[in-house]
Amino acid sequence: MPTFLLTEPLHNGVLILRLNRPDALNALNTALLEELADLLDDAGLNDDVRSVVITGNERAFAAGADVREMAGLDAVGVMQDPRPRYWARIAAFPKPLIAAVNGYCLGGGCELMMHADIVVASSDAQFGQPEINLGIIPGAGGTQRLIRAVGKALASQMVMTGQPIDAERALQAGLVSELTEPELCLERAIDIARRIARQAPLAMQQAKDVLNRAQESHLAAGLAYERKAFTLLAATEDRNEGIRAFIEKRRPDYRGR
Ligand code: CAA
Repeated sequence: MPTFLLTEPLHNGVLILRLNRPDALNALNTALLEELADLLDDAGLNDDVRSVVITGNERAFAAGADVREMAGLDAVGVMQDPRPRYWARIAAFPKPLIAAVNGYCLGGGCELMMHADIVVASSDAQFGQPEINLGIIPGAGGTQRLIRAVGKALASQMVMTGQPIDAERALQAGLVSELTEPELCLERAIDIARRIARQAPLAMQQAKDVLNRAQESHLAAGLAYERKAFTLLAATEDRNEGIRAFIEKRRPDYRGR
């Protein structure tokens, strides 16, 4: 049974995961990351799960890796740390992941948020990579993903000063896709997740894969990859159903085939 993650019963194809270490501002300890990787692996294989919302509580999405746990690791311990394997499984989750962020979103929490495809942030959210204050640097993709998300100058400022940015600045910089009032953040993320859950699952999977590829390849390679995925989808029943439903002016009935 998960201890550090609460799940809500699947509804309309949307799975809601809530980080649940309120006493530590949802700091990401190893057990929490393992649970998250396990849950996402299961959700990836479950056809009934069409999208996932991940959230924290009103004070914090997550305030980073668990600093107390890190304190016990020497260099060999860091080399043998299983967490990079959990992060890799989280990054490989093939379905849409939507983050609903209230409050602190720092360090490993910000890195987790950047694994989401879509981020809805509350107006009181704060985003930062404060690792430099601890004499370290981000270790779960923070430098690499942040620079791709917000560009070199702002990413460098955040990593080098350790100072967070507010939600408005995060929106301007493209780190998040929408801002809401604090009490509406989760609801809005669920709305988006439901809309996504109604779409053709295979097209959604290809969309995520191709969008992610754009972060890693130059334009010509990305365009070729997109065209291959587009062509592959022409072999699906859902593609024919989607087009037929449009012409017949009805809602499509997607089967994931
Ligand atoms: N790890 C472990 N415990 C944490 C934590 C963390 N990252 N962040 C907060 N907590 C704990 C605090 O120790 C405190 O516990 P106790 O009540 O038992 O003392 C509790 O959560 C509440 O925190 P505060 O009392 O500090 O709350 P605050 O409102 O005064 O301050 C804060 C909030 C500014 C976020 C502050 O808690 C803070 O600076 N946290 C650490 C943030 C940080 O440095 N994150 C990066 C971690 S390193 C990392 O993430 C590496 C990586 O890239 C993988």
